[in-house]
Amino acid sequence: MPPTQALRIMAVCLGNICRSPMAEAVLQTKANAAGLAAVVDSSGTARWHAGGPADPRARRVLAEHGYELEHSARNFDVRWFDERDLIVAMDLDNLADLEQLARTPEHRAKLALLRSYDPALAHRRPPDDALAVPDPYLGTLADFENVLSMIERAADGLVTELLASRR
Ligand code: 4NP
Repeated sequence: MPPTQALRIMAVCLGNICRSPMAEAVLQTKANAAGLAAVVDSSGTARWHAGGPADPRARRVLAEHGYELEHSARNFDVRWFDERDLIVAMDLDNLADLEQLARTPEHRAKLALLRSYDPALAHRRPPDDALAVPDPYLGTLADFENVLSMIERAADGLVTELLASRR
């Protein structure tokens, strides 16, 4: 059997400084721990913060929970539709923006909301806002903590599903 190709997963939010860098770190860590061959990265639908670091609150919450992240923010590039297997959006606006950028059914088929993999939300469908990882940028450190736990639950569900589909 040929070696399994690593799955290429990209997390996408608006600024690529809060939610999607957190999702990148969590998904990569959980995939590694589960023995799932995956390469996870992230980007934002807006270019405002491109080249900059992750938000200090995102970095702090990640570090406090034992996650590592090296980050320089990037604006989503349509070429990445071909170079990723799965693109997980944080909220419905991010998903709508990505759907606008998708040029083929194959590209659209790679799009999903991260929280749709949370088993507790399995009965929800877009455009149900319960599937959103809410934007914490104008919020408090507690909002970042809440975002991290949402991402962790969804990442566990996603890794479980991907492992099952690779068997
Ligand atoms: P993110 O959060 O999309 O989770 O990275 C935001 C970061 C920056 C801004 C909005 C949301 N902003 O307006 O600059």
